[in-house]
Amino acid sequence: MRAILLAGGAGTRLRPLTYTTPKPLLPVCNQPFLERQLTWLGRFGVTDVTLALGYLADPFVTHFPGGTFGPMSLSYAVEPEALGTAGAIKFAAEQIGVGAQERIVVCNGDVLTDLDLSELVDFHVARDAEATISLTRVEDPSRFGVVPTDSDGRVRAFVEKPPPGKAPSHWINAGTYVLEGRMLDRIPYGVNTSIERETFPKMLTQDGRLLAMESSAYWLDVGVPNQYLQAHHDLLNGRLGDQVVPEATRDGMGPWRQGEVEAADSASFSPNCLVGGGTTVDDDAVVVMSSLGFGCKIGRGAVIRDAVLGDGVTVESGARVEHSILGPGAIVGAGAVVQQVSVVGASAIVPAGSTQSEARINPPGDFE
Ligand code: GTP
Repeated sequence: MRAILLAGGAGTRLRPLTYTTPKPLLPVCNQPFLERQLTWLGRFGVTDVTLALGYLADPFVTHFPGGTFGPMSLSYAVEPEALGTAGAIKFAAEQIGVGAQERIVVCNGDVLTDLDLSELVDFHVARDAEATISLTRVEDPSRFGVVPTDSDGRVRAFVEKPPPGKAPSHWINAGTYVLEGRMLDRIPYGVNTSIERETFPKMLTQDGRLLAMESSAYWLDVGVPNQYLQAHHDLLNGRLGDQVVPEATRDGMGPWRQGEVEAADSASFSPNCLVGGGTTVDDDAVVVMSSLGFGCKIGRGAVIRDAVLGDGVTVESGARVEHSILGPGAIVGAGAVVQQVSVVGASAIVPAGSTQSEARINPPGDFE
């Protein structure tokens, strides 16, 4: 089975990280997020994946030299301009020649899930659907597109961001679809169109066979800072089973390590930490429930708590980083505090002694 993976969005909500790295290539527990998604797709027999690209396309091509990921073959459909989710699917499908009789899987490039894809395909086939949407349940649907269905899974309506307490259900579009090739005739070529806001709702008015399957599988949209942090929290705490980090090892209840880590005897780690190889951790530093990239330097007495550090980050002595994200090569000056979902761009410098709360600090250079 072939899949199209939507990976061309600008990822504005994860700026400034996405100024320099496209969202699907941002690491989640030291592995580019896209690799996790490809691994998940591969588990269900997907052998060919087309990446629908636009914003920062080159890093994808560089990341997969030879156009493969393990046994999986990759191809790229690079849009000349942003075409929206449906426009991107249509563009990619034309590039690879999806036939009217073919069935494809489509997924958003920012969803961490252990959805059983085979179950979704079986559901789709058993009901002779033209398109099937996977649904996930959320406590507060007021920020999402809600998709009420009938008892057989037929979609009844799309309700975008219902006011609190007024939602017809708690089930929202989870961003994974099974589509029959003929369904793509409904999408105009070369026009910016959203599948979730335009194509699917229009199918209902045109008597299309649009179904949706409720799933209680783990699901998280990692495209906003708080949820990007949550993804790390969940992986490090075993919510997704054994898929924490590939090739990581640990001694007893020590942190997960990927290669040699040099830590002072007086440094301490909680067990649900991941530390990349080549990282050094100085005296009295404390690392709790965090993911540290490769080659980081953690100074004396620094505190890293519930945080994500990219490769080559420096946190100088006495600094504190809590519930925040530091892009690769960022430097936190001595005694600084970075907290409350602050996001620090690649190679950005946090001045010594400063306090950053809910901050967005751009990488050096010319960014908005
Ligand atoms: P924000 O700017 O933060 O909203 O992120 P985003 O640009 O990624 O948008 P959103 O999260 O709504 O997109 C959902 C999925 O569709 C993501 O995997 C995006 O990469 C992808 N996507 C959104 N727009 C486009 C597009 O125009 N072309 C392509 N190829 N993919 C897109």
